Amino acid sequence: MTTFISAHKFTNVLNNYHCKVKKNYDICTRKLLRQNQNIYIVYFNMKKSALQKARAAYQPKLPIVLTGSVKTVAGEATQSVANQDEIKALFPNTYGLPELRFEKGAPAQKNRPINVGVILSGGQAPGGHNVISGLFDGIKKIHRDSRLYGFLMGPGGFVDHQYMELTSAVINEYRNTGGFDIIGSGRTKLEKKEQFDKGLEILRELNISALVIIGGDDSNTNAAVLAEYYKSINAGVQVIGCPKTIDGDLKNDVIETSFGFDTATKVYSEVIGNIQRDCNSAKKYWHFIKLMGRSASHIALECALQCQPNVCIISEEVEEKNMTLLDVVNYIANIVATRAKYGNNYGTVLVPEGLIEFIPSIKKLIAELNDLLAAKADEFAKQENKKQWVLDNLSADNARVYGMLPDGVARQLTLDRDPHGNVQVSLIETEKLLSEMVARRLEEMRAEGSYNGKFAALHHFFGYEGRCADPSNFDADYCYGLGFNAACLINAGVTGYMSSLRNLIKPSVQWVPGGIPITMMMNMERRHGEMKPVIQKALVKLDGPAFQKFASQRDDWATHTLYLYPGPIQYFGPAEVCDQPTLTLRYEHVGK
Ligand code: FBP
Repeated sequence: MTTFISAHKFTNVLNNYHCKVKKNYDICTRKLLRQNQNIYIVYFNMKKSALQKARAAYQPKLPIVLTGSVKTVAGEATQSVANQDEIKALFPNTYGLPELRFEKGAPAQKNRPINVGVILSGGQAPGGHNVISGLFDGIKKIHRDSRLYGFLMGPGGFVDHQYMELTSAVINEYRNTGGFDIIGSGRTKLEKKEQFDKGLEILRELNISALVIIGGDDSNTNAAVLAEYYKSINAGVQVIGCPKTIDGDLKNDVIETSFGFDTATKVYSEVIGNIQRDCNSAKKYWHFIKLMGRSASHIALECALQCQPNVCIISEEVEEKNMTLLDVVNYIANIVATRAKYGNNYGTVLVPEGLIEFIPSIKKLIAELNDLLAAKADEFAKQENKKQWVLDNLSADNARVYGMLPDGVARQLTLDRDPHGNVQVSLIETEKLLSEMVARRLEEMRAEGSYNGKFAALHHFFGYEGRCADPSNFDADYCYGLGFNAACLINAGVTGYMSSLRNLIKPSVQWVPGGIPITMMMNMERRHGEMKPVIQKALVKLDGPAFQKFASQRDDWATHTLYLYPGPIQYFGPAEVCDQPTLTLRYEHVGK
């Protein structure tokens, strides 16, 4: 059955739907799509796989501290990572708060029912459903009359008052599953006072006193701004953030990793390993594999550590060494030529999707293109020959770089930006750009007499296939714990905090729960031509233990064939197979 329905009727229909689930269907699911101001609901029967059924019964392992009553222990006052005076002035009510830690003990105030709203924001990441189920169980533990409302399709649902109540019948359908389809996600940027006021109307209507925003660095920045605003007007609404992103770039000294990174990198590593086996069997292709991660190269680095490919480019290193596109191409071509000398005309190359923005000359080009396209959007839209128009309107240096790019990539660089102003790097075929240029360079080397091999390239992009995988045991536990811990932060009455679990290389029962003031992670950065307070993005540290480990081994991996085959995520079995965190996390802890 399919139907259009307004948000206000949505909850009733859903309740009815869940009655039907109980009466008529063993297994059902539903899909939500926003169409204008309506919700388009599609109901359909769905059988569950054997793994889905078994996985639904998995009970995430909560940190021991959170299994009983908790008391809040406040640490020292904090300050932002940089630009302290500016951030303090912008967040007079939420700056300088102490870090919080939970310990076993009686809570300061009496537990009372709380109504909580939750938003999934930005790209999908494995474990989002477990954050929501942990939050649900957490607020129900505080008081069984507590209620949870999910805003639909991201922050837009909050502003437009599209929501549904998340009852236990709904939650139980989604425990330990991948995806964000329980309420959907979106990239609407929450930044304007009108949006905050509009959102407050629905919070008041539903008697919601706390909002949990599950998102990446930009969404948690918005959570901090919202927390400050609600505090400044005494709205009586707490705002709590949760660190989500497969990109792994929302981490720092106090947030050890973002959720989803573990599962996504394990999915990619499995398929990279499979490709390497194929490659080592047929010995006739070079596989160019682009990996998601909008800016930082954490995903590529983790997959390289897991799989030991012949080449892995790390964008941060390219930038640090001021490499040109041709330098990157030469680096790869030389490895292809060296392997060809030993008769190995095959190999694997990992390319982070953000690479293009880290090549200094292209970074400058993108900056000018951003301004040009923002200033002359209408004129650009009318052009028949867009490439020529761009060439005519760019400065000479940038026009030269732009002119060098293959037409496809040149066009991709002018496509629409996302709502946060980012180039949509997942749409740029960097893997093809590199392999085409490597092929050209190899022909030059052949003419010079330094290469005498065969070069056949195949291309892959691994991104979306990892974002909705069923969470690994690590992510299932981490996410459930983050959600449950968010409920404890709400019960502690605080706002402007990010839910935090630390000590993550230990078994999950030993993780240390608490809260980190979001302002502590902020600095000032230029966005859309203005200086804005934002959470500092964590790029790969070239002096960090994970990169150092990679750098010490990559020459061996390049020349020899030392592939590792990690295999698929294991959900059941011995802990050393099923519960391992990423190598990045492991090396970062050992390095501390
Ligand atoms: P978040 O930062 O919102 O978690 O999203 C990350 C990401 O998966 C990137 O790796 C990728 O570049 C981008 O989302 C793709 O965005 P979209 O889902 O809008 O295509």
